[in-house]
Amino acid sequence: MKRKILVIYYSQSGQLRDILDNILYDIQHKVEIDIAEVLPVQPFPFPWKVSSFFDAMPECVELIPSPIQPIPGEVLTKDYDLVILGYQPWFLSPSQPITSFLKSEYAGVLKDKPVITVIGSRNMWLNAQEKVKEMLQNIGARLVGNIVLTDRHPNLVSTLTVLRWAFKGQKEASGLLPEAGVQSADIKNTQRFGMQIYKHLEEGRLDVLQKELLLQGAIHLNPGLIVLEKRGIKNFRKFAKYIREKGGPGAPERLGRVNLFKRLLITGIFVLSPVSSLTAKIQLQLQRQSLLKDVQYFKSLRYEPGKL
Ligand SMILES: Cc1cc2nc3c(=O)[nH]c(=O)nc-3n(C[C@H](O)[C@H](O)[C@H](O)COP(=O)(O)O)c2cc1C
Repeated sequence: MKRKILVIYYSQSGQLRDILDNILYDIQHKVEIDIAEVLPVQPFPFPWKVSSFFDAMPECVELIPSPIQPIPGEVLTKDYDLVILGYQPWFLSPSQPITSFLKSEYAGVLKDKPVITVIGSRNMWLNAQEKVKEMLQNIGARLVGNIVLTDRHPNLVSTLTVLRWAFKGQKEASGLLPEAGVQSADIKNTQRFGMQIYKHLEEGRLDVLQKELLLQGAIHLNPGLIVLEKRGIKNFRKFAKYIREKGGPGAPERLGRVNLFKRLLITGIFVLSPVSSLTAKIQLQLQRQSLLKDVQYFKSLRYEPGKL
């Protein structure tokens, strides 16, 4: 009998779906695959309006769910051998649709199941994965693997291209800027993971899958980005609380605070970025040993609350 795999994902542009299709390419006929897309009842616009983009931050960071469309009944009642959860970080946190799924009644389909997370990000996914680990633990799911795709361009370049993509819907290269998102060759290369997943599933060895995935380069993590993400998420948490004091998503009362967040974030990215990159480099030199330990931790599946 063929093994049953459930793939659950959310994707605005289709990038994450592309990654998942490539991972499953070599094994699509060897296993039975069901795919369930998480769809918010109130979809997020793509391309985004500037106002709704920044207004989405507080609920992402505070893990506040919003209604999603029902996951089909036949998926919820099947007994899967493995679940693959594809998601993306938004504002250093799981995207709101994925949080909404993980906090919904439908997340029961993950209970007692081995789960592989697949992340399609710009380059800052650490806090998002910590939150996903925590939510998976609460559901009673067992994390057995994590594959992370990032945009390998320099931090500032990938920020510019992701904003062009988000606000104009333009993924293609323009002017001096390259194509946005994860490099196509990296997406195609995820095909190498399919057979590893299949082999470990067939042999009942999912507990050692992550070791194998890491040997195949499933996660590249630059220690300098740990420093930047730690700083970023601290500020986002403060701002999320401050904005939500004035109301929920779209509330006119919170617009002033959302605009303040927008201005400070843009200043942080474009004006302070060279300075913060320099101080992050200094911090990297001073704390190299502990940051290398952090790299090992974030590549692992362990969950220690309060790491970020
Ligand atoms: C609102 C928003 C916030 C984002 N925040 C982050 C982030 O904090 N870290 C990161 O690495 N990428 C971030 N990204 C990029 C996404 O994680 C993702 O790679 C990109 O949006 C494509 O995903 P898709 O498959 O949903 O189209 C953000 C994108 C959006 C739209």
